[in-house]
Amino acid sequence: MAHDRPNGDAPEPRVRLTRAGLAEAARLFGYLLRYRGRFAAAMVTLTVSSLLGLSFPYLAGQMVDAANPEATAAGAGRLGIDRVAEWLVLVLAVRAACSFAQTYWLAQVGERSLADLRQDTYARLLRLPVSFFAQRRVGELSSRVATDLAQIQDALTGAIPSFLRQVVILTGGVTLLATTSGRLTLVMLGSVPPLVAAAALFGRAVRRQSRDAQDRLAAANVVVEETLQGISGVKAFTNEGFEEARYRAGIDAVVAAVLRGALYRGAFSAFVIFALFGAVVLVLWYGAKLTQAGELTYGDLTQFLITTTFVGGAVGSFAELYAQLQRTVGATQRVRELLREPTEDPGPPIPVGSPERLSGGIRFENVDFSYPGRKEVTVLQGLTLEAKAGERIALVGASGAGKSTVVSLLLRFHDPDAGLVLLDGRDAKSYPLKTLRGNMAVVPQDVFLFGGSVGANIAYGRPGASQADIESAARQANAHDFITSFPQGYDTLVGERGVQLSGGQRQRVAIARAILRDPAILILDEATSSLDSESEHLVQQALDGLMRGRTSLIVAHRLSTVRQADRIYVIEGGRVTETGTHTELIERDGKYRTFVELQFARA
Ligand SMILES: Nc1ncnc2c1ncn2[C@@H]1O[C@H](COP(=O)(O)OP(=O)(O)OP(=O)(O)O)[C@@H](O)[C@H]1O
Ligand SMILES: [Mg+2]
Repeated sequence: MAHDRPNGDAPEPRVRLTRAGLAEAARLFGYLLRYRGRFAAAMVTLTVSSLLGLSFPYLAGQMVDAANPEATAAGAGRLGIDRVAEWLVLVLAVRAACSFAQTYWLAQVGERSLADLRQDTYARLLRLPVSFFAQRRVGELSSRVATDLAQIQDALTGAIPSFLRQVVILTGGVTLLATTSGRLTLVMLGSVPPLVAAAALFGRAVRRQSRDAQDRLAAANVVVEETLQGISGVKAFTNEGFEEARYRAGIDAVVAAVLRGALYRGAFSAFVIFALFGAVVLVLWYGAKLTQAGELTYGDLTQFLITTTFVGGAVGSFAELYAQLQRTVGATQRVRELLREPTEDPGPPIPVGSPERLSGGIRFENVDFSYPGRKEVTVLQGLTLEAKAGERIALVGASGAGKSTVVSLLLRFHDPDAGLVLLDGRDAKSYPLKTLRGNMAVVPQDVFLFGGSVGANIAYGRPGASQADIESAARQANAHDFITSFPQGYDTLVGERGVQLSGGQRQRVAIARAILRDPAILILDEATSSLDSESEHLVQQALDGLMRGRTSLIVAHRLSTVRQADRIYVIEGGRVTETGTHTELIERDGKYRTFVELQFARA
């Protein structure tokens, strides 16, 4: 099971930075361009505030010299303590203002452009063909998009500004140091940056270890999650002992990983204390020597030391920024891959005026089809069937015969490899996709209810429907009574976090949804699980009302539905092997009869 990692700390496979990858990423940052004025303003304030930040060590040095009578006598620290303090306050005030503006503007730019990107990605995802989703695990896809977008957001609002700031500090800082003392600068540059870089690399190894521990903990928690969710299964198989052992193994792995991490962390802090502070001691020692020899004032030394910590910090941040850049390029690549996926063919443009209403004639002509993911298996072979406008046809056949596939082709989730799907005598492809699906309603085998009220779930059939329409549809679907028996009526929450509806209730909600849609063609994939006779009766009644006056294509599992069909198609191995009404087929004493005897014996 994949666990989510919402933050930028995700173990994204780091990509090698190539020109193509960077160009790709840069194109995504085009989203920033819509807000370029703000962005530029933020970058300017950022540069100003970073440069002003560098004046702090300079002014601090001036202050020290001003306090030292020997230095002032030698001509250093001429500004005087009070003036330097005034300058410091002024610098702080300007930096505060810059920092305020920069934070707010960057948030505006980052959040708005990210919202655009999110919206575009989602819109794109919604328009990808069904075959795209069939080949991927959807949970993984959505969490990946979320992680990738969070990564890009981090880069927009965090890494880019931070990178700019550090570049300014590094170049400005080193220049400032060089003007103070060239020799001391060389000593500093020879010791501090290499050690800081080493520490940064070391730090990454430490973080990798702690991530490993987190992963193992998550894996162990999956065991708990799974078993508690399926607790009755665990108990029925008396597998408590087995699960305990599985959890124990997981927890042991966590402890081992955490302790390994602690070893790294300990070594890391020892390294930082000795080597890194050692480098500072070296600079201090050499600087003190130079001061003693009269080559530097106390103020110069103070300025030097403070600036050194700034430069060290900047060097240290580059390693992390580089890693973040790699992750971001990886994330943008995947998001752009998604944005490049071809969408469904929307068909010809929708003519202006009222949406086209079909009469509902369906014809499959010699249709061959295999799923894009499994080209070698022919699922439908030369399949021909027909429902004239207003007719009711039933598809029966063994599991895997291809019944649901016929439904997918009718909805144009896929297109046939050979042959034609015709609607009102015209190729289905000649209709705008929106018109085609707009004329159909599906009552599926397992009804999809989203988290929301029952009323909103019914209104999904025709967004914007009035409460009166919703209730009338629910009445016709035999759903009104059970809905009003809930204390909150139509506002009752359903779906994962709401009340659980029974199979029959869910189906009636789906039927109400379809009634509200008022389609020319009704597609029904009957539930295989038998409903109790009471809800079976209610559902059947609701369906009879719904099917009146429309073309219905029913994947039938109930004898009552099959009996009433104008025509039955027996499907075997993707072909139609028998056709006729129930009576005709029973009399023929062929496959259908055997099938009825086997399948509907219970009904
Ligand atoms: N997305 C898919 N990718 C590849 N093969 C598929 C896909 N969906 C279905 N199939 C295969 O196509 C064949 C027909 O499947 P289909 O779902 O149409 O059967 P069915 O008649 O509806 O069966 P059931 O009564 O069990 O619902 C099966 O062999 C199935 O394995
Ligand atoms: Mg099916």
